[in-house]
Amino acid sequence: MKIEEIVPHGMCAGVRAAVDLAMRQRDAYCLHSLVHSEIVTDELKSRGFRFVEDVEEVPDGAVVVFSAHGVSPSVRARAAEKGLKVVDATCPVVARAHRAVREFCERGLPVVVIGDPAHVEVKGLLGEISGGRTPEKGGRIGVVCQTTLDAGEVARRVEELRRDYVVDSVSDVCPATRERQEAVRAFDGDAILVLGSRDSANTRRLCEVARCRVFTAGSMEEVKKARDQMEGLGRVGVTSGASTPESFFESAVSCLRRVPLHVAFIMDGNGRWAQRRGKERIFGHVAGARTLSRVVEWCGRRGIRYVTVYAFSTENWRRPKAEGDGLMRLFAKMLKTRAGSLVENRVRLRVVGRRGDLPESLRESIERVERLTAGFERQLVVCISYGGRAEIVDAANRAVEDGRKVTEESFRRLLYAPDVPDPDLVVRTSGERRVSNFLLWECAYSEYHFTDVLWPDFSERDLDIALDDYSSRHRRRGGVA
Ligand code: IPE
Ligand code: IPE
Ligand code: MG
Repeated sequence: MKIEEIVPHGMCAGVRAAVDLAMRQRDAYCLHSLVHSEIVTDELKSRGFRFVEDVEEVPDGAVVVFSAHGVSPSVRARAAEKGLKVVDATCPVVARAHRAVREFCERGLPVVVIGDPAHVEVKGLLGEISGGRTPEKGGRIGVVCQTTLDAGEVARRVEELRRDYVVDSVSDVCPATRERQEAVRAFDGDAILVLGSRDSANTRRLCEVARCRVFTAGSMEEVKKARDQMEGLGRVGVTSGASTPESFFESAVSCLRRVPLHVAFIMDGNGRWAQRRGKERIFGHVAGARTLSRVVEWCGRRGIRYVTVYAFSTENWRRPKAEGDGLMRLFAKMLKTRAGSLVENRVRLRVVGRRGDLPESLRESIERVERLTAGFERQLVVCISYGGRAEIVDAANRAVEDGRKVTEESFRRLLYAPDVPDPDLVVRTSGERRVSNFLLWECAYSEYHFTDVLWPDFSERDLDIALDDYSSRHRRRGGVA
């Protein structure tokens, strides 16, 4: 089975803005689902959001978020009467449709709304209609549509209406929705897996427009089920609805490819590798740096999206100064010589750790390469002057400065690379079987693979052995399944 990511897919600008806006609120009520994604709803619930279906359920004076689907004027009026603090996350495309309905009504035109009358977006649009005029044959009407419909279907309906009426049609299917539909229609493989929630209209539409077999999944359990059902197929496209978080898409693709999304390496054994050859330890580090470049390339070819490497720990400052200085020079040299290949291979570099401990010139080089590669999706996270305990302490201090109690989710966001998913697999070379202060928070549920191979000797075959070992593990994460 060959997994192909369909482009574009996933969150549109309107949904992203709605989610960002909602995430900034505290003690808020959300009228209806903010967007139709169970993953987003769960995340907001974990931040204390309460979801209501009627504005009457919101206590007077509280903060209420209007969902991306928009609300009718009567709901706005009621919110004002109740003294609610309104945060309006209505998608701009939906807001445009509302304006169109109002303008049609002001011009005295009867209004036709094309869409599912049970969908909140359509209810909101219908609520804008004032005057309630009935269309007359041959007369002029205003037409708007639910923004997540199939664009072709809307065009056909408008054509039908044109037979009997003079049609003023202003709003249209949302451009992001249309682009996602077109990409799905163009895919000519054996099957498409559509990721998103069942109650998401635009996600359902993606299923309808596909020209091949369709599978759907709204959770990782369902992705695994779909993977088993699709076993033996040739080309499988993966797409996601406009309200589906990219993190879910990434995890699903990795699961389908049966590779971990994120692999972390404790690159150990450089010193012994050099000593066995009767050389200075720094030779081992130089050889280790070469291995690192190869490992990043091998991981990329296998579809692994995040690679984290432990390059220098907070405890490594205890080593003789010459070794520490040599390593800092080596990092600086690597940044110079490898920046081009990171750009070429579209890999984003991030360095995490106590950056203040590093020489200023090295810090500047790091920042330069981080800026240069900032837009890329694949990531190489290099831990320098990094300690798992230091990271937790730094996060704790930020929480104290903020003056708020933390939850696991909010604490996670204070760590060095909050948007990088936890490692699925940690590989340690050189025969040591310990964690040595690496990613203490992030590895709570990671799988570990230990190998006696020294890091400079770590080969493509050793990587595959580690990945095979990982794929044979049954990750229960505390459950019983
Ligand atoms: C790991 O190799 C790299 C760094 C800590 C910088 P070591 O330098 O720890 O090598 P050994 O463990 O002494 O062989
Ligand atoms: C861990 O290796 C740190 C890195 C690989 C950068 P160490 O060699 O420093 O760890 P210990 O001393 O064996 O625990
Ligand atoms: Mg070591």
